[in-house]
Parts: sequence; C-alpha cells; structure tokens
Amino acid sequence: MWTKNNPFLRGPYEPLYTEYKVNELHVEGSIPRELKGTLYRVASNQQFEPLNPDKFHWFDGDGMVHAFRLEDGKASYSNRFVETEGLKVERGAGKALYNGIMGYSNTPQPPLPEGAPRIKATANINVIRLGDKLLAMHEVEHHYWELDPVTLETLGTFNFNGQVEGMLTAHPHFDSVTKEWIFYALDNENHFVECFSTDVDGTITARHRVPLSFTPWNHDVIFTRQHYIFFFGLISWRPWSDELIQKGKSSWFVAPDQDRNARILFVDRKTGEAIWLHPENSEYMIGHFLNAYQDEEDTIIDASTTPVSNAILQFNPSDYYPFPLVDGPSAFEQPQLWRFVINLRQGTVRHHRIGDFSAEFVRPNETILGSPHRYGYMAGVHDPKPESRGFNCLIKHDYQTGTTEFQHVTRELDLVVGEPIFVPHPEAKEEDHGWILAVWYHPLRNASELVILDATDFSGKPVARIKLDHHVPLGFHGNWIADR
Ligand SMILES: [Fe+2]
Repeated sequence: MWTKNNPFLRGPYEPLYTEYKVNELHVEGSIPRELKGTLYRVASNQQFEPLNPDKFHWFDGDGMVHAFRLEDGKASYSNRFVETEGLKVERGAGKALYNGIMGYSNTPQPPLPEGAPRIKATANINVIRLGDKLLAMHEVEHHYWELDPVTLETLGTFNFNGQVEGMLTAHPHFDSVTKEWIFYALDNENHFVECFSTDVDGTITARHRVPLSFTPWNHDVIFTRQHYIFFFGLISWRPWSDELIQKGKSSWFVAPDQDRNARILFVDRKTGEAIWLHPENSEYMIGHFLNAYQDEEDTIIDASTTPVSNAILQFNPSDYYPFPLVDGPSAFEQPQLWRFVINLRQGTVRHHRIGDFSAEFVRPNETILGSPHRYGYMAGVHDPKPESRGFNCLIKHDYQTGTTEFQHVTRELDLVVGEPIFVPHPEAKEEDHGWILAVWYHPLRNASELVILDATDFSGKPVARIKLDHHVPLGFHGNWIADR
C-alpha cells in the first residue's frame, strides 16, 4: 500500500481496484421476498496514489458506487468507479494530479492539462434516485453525475438545466407529504446559500437565496413543513479559491478570529423569510440530521452532533477526523446523538444529549421526514474491543420510551459498520415495520457483507447475512431503490 501511516488507506478503508459483477452471493439466513430492488452505496475509493499519501483524507477518495440487487430471495452485486471529469484527467495521465479537497497535502499540484477542471470533485458522498435518474453526488461541484442504474456506467452530468448556481448539496431530502425534494446550493465565492425544492422529477418548485456574511462548510440540511434549517459551525470552506487546494492546503480552515458559536438559519419554504439564531455556548458541529418537525411553538431537531474542543483552534481541521477510534489525535469529540428544541418566537435554543454512545450516520424511516418520528437508526460505538477501529454496532433509539437497542452481528470480534438504511415493509402500518440494510466489514475475512435486520427485532439475530469475498471500503451514504 502507499502508506503505513495513514489509517484511511488501509484495512477497511483500503481502496478497491476491481470492478466486480457477482451473480449470486452466498446468503446465511433468508432474504425477505418483499425486498425487490437495489441498495446503492457510494464510498471513498482513491484510484491513484495521492500526491502525499500520509496526509490523504478519507473524504477525498474517488467515488465508487456499489449496488446490491435483491430479488426473489437472491442477491447479486456490482461496483464501478464514478467517472468524474477530474478522474478522467488523472486516468489520461496515469497518475494523481489533484490534491484532495479536504486534505492538507502540503504538496503543490503539478500543472493540469488544458481544459481540466481546477479541482477534482469525487462523487463519493451520496447516491439517490431523482425521477428516473440515478445520481451520484458530491457537495463541491455545480452538478451531479447521472449513472446507468444497471451497469453503473457514468452517463453524464445533471444540474437542473443550469438553473442553479453554487455547490450542490449531497444531502437532499424528500418530503413525502408535499412530494417535494429539498435541496440547497452554497456559493462561498459569491456569498449566498440558495434553498430550493423540486417535484419528484427534479423540476424546481421553489427557490430562496439568502446572503451569507461568512464562508461556512456545511454538509446537511433538514426541513419542517414550514422551514429549511441549517446549522453552520466554525469551519470555513473555500474549495474554489485559487489559494488553497492547488497549493496543497486544505479548503477547510478555522479563521483566527472565528466565532466558535453555531449560526442557525431557518428559511421559510413559502416566503423565503430568513431567521438567524446565534446561541451562546453552541460550540458544536452538526454531522447529519435525523429529522425535524414542529411541535406547537417548538421546532424539534434530532442530529448527530460533535462538540468542538480547544485543539481545533491550534491545528488544521483537515488533519483530524470527527469519527471514532481512528489512530491519532483528534480535535473533535466523539459524535453524539443530540436533540435540539428551538422556539423561534422566544429565540431560544436548548439541547440535550441522548444516551452515552457515539453515533453518526443517523437515518429515520424516511417517509416520516418533517413529521414527528418515534425511532432513529444510526451507526455507533458501544462496548468496543481494544482493537476496534470504527463504528462497531448499529443503534435503534426509541424516542417514545427512551430505550436504545444495539446490534453487533457477532460478539466474537468487532465488525465495522456504516450507515443503516431503513426499508419499509410494503404493507407497513407501524413506523418500524421494515428492515435495516447495512454493509459490515469483517476484519478477519478482509471482506464485507450486507446484513439485513428485522427493524422490529433490532437486536435479534439478523434475517440475512449476504457475503462478498472482497471488502467494500468504508464510505458514506446510499439508498434503497425499490423496483417500480
Ligand atoms: Fe453525509
């Protein structure tokens, strides 16, 4: 491998170079017949040796999509690189030419070929279906990448017919009551965030631009029936500046005079009215939102939240990782499950932590977004073994009873798990009637498996363990696309 020092190029994070097609995977247990569709996931998967492997950042790998197809109780699998413009340039050169967006290589980029994009967006954050399009996403680019849902071939780019300026979010969310997608685009060179909604096919139905007086890094958005909601933390972001990435500096930085408190923005979905809140003692970063909804005068927001320590002001944030059990120091605390209660009329922001576990990659039953939810699902750390590296369990939290269940799959050793995806049963009447799908890495096999849980028996024996003979590098997000 390219480095012995960087955990994000080794073990469960090691890139995969083969593009597989496996017709029938080995299954322990049985795959429910109601699960007919494809689980798409996207991961960080660097193709060429980075300019400085020791400083390569997990978030900067090329995007590779993994597709688990389930039908008639059987599973097949394929994976493929997303052929972004930057990756094509590097393939033409036969080597890495670009610095990462988040990493701090301290190594200037070599000259790029004429016509090459200035930075390499990697399509490694999320993959969703918008209308009849399968889209891979990063949050720095002004477009997404359309993929063939069967072959995973990169077909081209998609950018709402050029109607949206700014860096498009990799975390759109669907409002199943209004049948709208919620998006945003951030422009830190022209200083605005634009919230917009589309219909199920991606036609824009509402858009509201809010000027920004600062240049935030922002990763997620959440909504209620009335508002788009953002929590901006203290990390600044200038990926399109000519002074940072090309020179081997991270596009992330903390300004010396940076106010450490969060800046919370509510934007009215109908009128575009913007309401800012700037609470005291709010030194935290939101990783991902679980859900938000209005409860009389209060807005309830559940999220994975990372408190910020003093160290972040002394080091470059790109050297550190807001994730658990990674070798080396961190300027971040462990990500935690927090509930925020915000009263806009009074201008108050209260929060409290739920449980004592580390938790990230929070997902609900997505059909309930914007409405009150009972359950949250997430990857977490609970009772880790000394050699554990990463999230070692999935967690189901019941907000009604206050109880929490853990799923480790095996007690023999810690497997490493990523984001859980909830798939509703076709005839579901209860919120948790369905299955949890997640990919787990087995360190002794150096291979991954897709594990299906009955969400109503969360800590019980998995319904099915679908085994690959190779590993799926740990990545970020994905979605279940049921056959129509
Ligand atoms: Fe994310």
